[in-house]
Amino acid sequence: MNLILLGAQGSGKGTQSALLAQRFDLEPCASGDLLREAMAQGTPAGQQARPYYERGDLVPDELMVGMILERLKNLTDAHGIILDGFPRNHVQADVLDARLAEMGQAIARVIYLEVPRALLLERLSGRYICRAQGHVYNIKTNPPKTPGICDIDGSELYQRSDDTGEKIQHRLDIFFSETLQLTDYYARQGKLVTVDGTQSIADVNYAILVNLGAA
Ligand code: AP5
Ligand code: MG
Repeated sequence: MNLILLGAQGSGKGTQSALLAQRFDLEPCASGDLLREAMAQGTPAGQQARPYYERGDLVPDELMVGMILERLKNLTDAHGIILDGFPRNHVQADVLDARLAEMGQAIARVIYLEVPRALLLERLSGRYICRAQGHVYNIKTNPPKTPGICDIDGSELYQRSDDTGEKIQHRLDIFFSETLQLTDYYARQGKLVTVDGTQSIADVNYAILVNLGAA
């Protein structure tokens, strides 16, 4: 089963991806995590991506698609993948469909986490992620047991460089003007499921499981 989590910045893609990956033994594939890893390691792709990432712009398709296709190569033994943050436009969606078809696979469901802009802003300004693996917390809605430390791997928590006022607004503008169009793309394929992302983390997860026929 291959899934896509679609949603604005702060809608809970990373949070739900971790829960679903565990539940269905899926391989998580988060484009933002791939970029942060590449930037931290200083790889050529990471260096090219950094200025776009830091501005809150989309990284050029060529670069992003290359990183995702590389990742898909290693997934032949997995039960399936869960994509978080990819695709974000029609070019990326077409490439993904074509590559999966070559592998004899397809996307089963696209889960759109619907959250209004005001709540997205609130969530992003309270978000902290862990240095080691990007586990996600929120000072208000999902705090770690020990402040500043990841519950899962004990690494330091930090605020992302793109989680600041103007950059958040810019990223949200890109989502609502460009990426949101993908809901039509996947609705036409009969794969789109829309979930109310304003509920608690557990309730959002339950709603997704109901839609997947697994609750
Ligand atoms: P990326 O890392 O993917 O960031 P994003 O799209 O901005 O999405 P976020 O990670 O901000 O939000 P999320 O939906 O994962 O929310 P989360 O679960 O953390 O991308 C970063 C950058 O990389 C982009 O700006 C771009 O430059 C580049 N990039 C990435 N993909 C690309 C692509 N395909 N093409 C080109 N460029 C690309 O939750 C948010 C907060 O809310 C957390 O604090 C969490 O604890 C809390 N929370 C979550 N769910 C709930 C809930 N139900 N109730 C209460 N609190 C909740
Ligand atoms: Mg995320």
